[in-house]
Amino acid sequence: MNKAKAKQIVSRWMFPTERSSYMGGIEEQPILVKSKDRTVTDINGKEYLDFQSGQMGAAISHQHPRMVAIIEKTLKTMMHASNVMLNIPRLRLHQRLGKLLPKPLQRSLFLVSGSDSIEGAIDLARKATGGIDVLGMHAGLHGSTSYLTRSLSFNWNRHRHSVVAPATSAVLAPYCYRCPLKLKFPSCDIQCLTTSLELADANFTSKPAAFIGEPILSAGGVIVPPEGFYKRVQEACHERGMLLILDEAQTGLGKTGKMFGFQHEEGVMPDIIALSKHLGGGLPISAVCTSTKIAQQAVKNGYFATRSHATDPLLCAAGEESLNIIVDENLADRAARIEKRIKGAFRKMAKEYELIGDIRGRGVLLGIELVNDREKKTPANSALKQIAAYALKKGLIFQTRGTRGLQNVIRLVPPMTSTDEEVDRALSILHDAIRNIVKGKAKKRRRKVPSAAKKGR
Ligand SMILES: Cc1ncc(COP(=O)(O)O)c(C=O)c1O
Repeated sequence: MNKAKAKQIVSRWMFPTERSSYMGGIEEQPILVKSKDRTVTDINGKEYLDFQSGQMGAAISHQHPRMVAIIEKTLKTMMHASNVMLNIPRLRLHQRLGKLLPKPLQRSLFLVSGSDSIEGAIDLARKATGGIDVLGMHAGLHGSTSYLTRSLSFNWNRHRHSVVAPATSAVLAPYCYRCPLKLKFPSCDIQCLTTSLELADANFTSKPAAFIGEPILSAGGVIVPPEGFYKRVQEACHERGMLLILDEAQTGLGKTGKMFGFQHEEGVMPDIIALSKHLGGGLPISAVCTSTKIAQQAVKNGYFATRSHATDPLLCAAGEESLNIIVDENLADRAARIEKRIKGAFRKMAKEYELIGDIRGRGVLLGIELVNDREKKTPANSALKQIAAYALKKGLIFQTRGTRGLQNVIRLVPPMTSTDEEVDRALSILHDAIRNIVKGKAKKRRRKVPSAAKKGR
């Protein structure tokens, strides 16, 4: 297969591939043939450091040898099984996950995708509370199923869907770097939430059921809520009889430097946690986790959630092994060390380059927000586009993110197993890219000055 052949297939057999579509231009990206550890290889044999961890499913490495071994072993025994019967890997995963989860959230059920787990979590909250309305955050993303999860993914344009799910609305995300209320933490006293809740109370169409949030809003530009935010959300939920659902797709299982992303804030205990992405170590499996009490209340009201492949032995065995690897290899600690290294390097760069406006995130979920002017915070969307293109050329893949229209955040999601050498290689590419952009801009400015000066004379 070569690029020309791939383009032919795309133009004849795939959709949606129009330039204006979400993944338009995908044929211009590397076409991958192989992956190993932190590296992916394209059809030309070119290797890239994968600082997007696949689609975040490779946070424990690509082709981790223990994952390959357990998958091979289970493949030969039992790949697929009925979900109305138990199988051993399924039972073992319930137990392994239950022991890892914070008390009292030790009950789990399994689904396939992250979107599935959010659908399952929302339904669970609705059945347990008897409420309907769900609040999300305006920079949040919770999935791509056509109805409920896209309706709760306020960071995408909801008006592009055919129908928006009723009883879903947004509160302001606590995006302190660009505070929507133009206030400053901590003197703001998290006014964004107070004001949003007042509006939400006025807007509820029924009894409210849940608040859903990401411990770090990843696709929204790696926004880290300020200390105390989720505690306030939790209090607001308790006051209204709502449940707190935390979508730990991108923050759970070690990636932020703790086992779960919410554990960075004291006094917070969600009612429901949704897990996905690297839970399967590269295979698709997700989980909805809750307490016995909430599970029982919901089940009494008819709750169930499943999929034909949700409890496949292959996926469950992969799930158990990935959890074992995360614990055995102390990957949360490694994620915390990677955070230090990357943030340290960017802090140094920030002294030199005004382009670096904000450095944030935790563990291996990091964001560097680029601005053309630190005071005005003008988003440097086009500079980031050039940086990403340069990095790709030099063998580094990462994704660009931002809140709603913005695309000015470098999102770095290296696998938790990344070595210092790999991290430094990525940092050196990014440093060169930023230096080139800044130099290029300065040159342009210098070229403009003489003519402007002439006019002045
Ligand atoms: C926080 C979060 N939740 C849910 C999802 C949906 O997961 P999936 O694409 O597996 O359905 C995503 C996808 O990126 C996500 O980032």
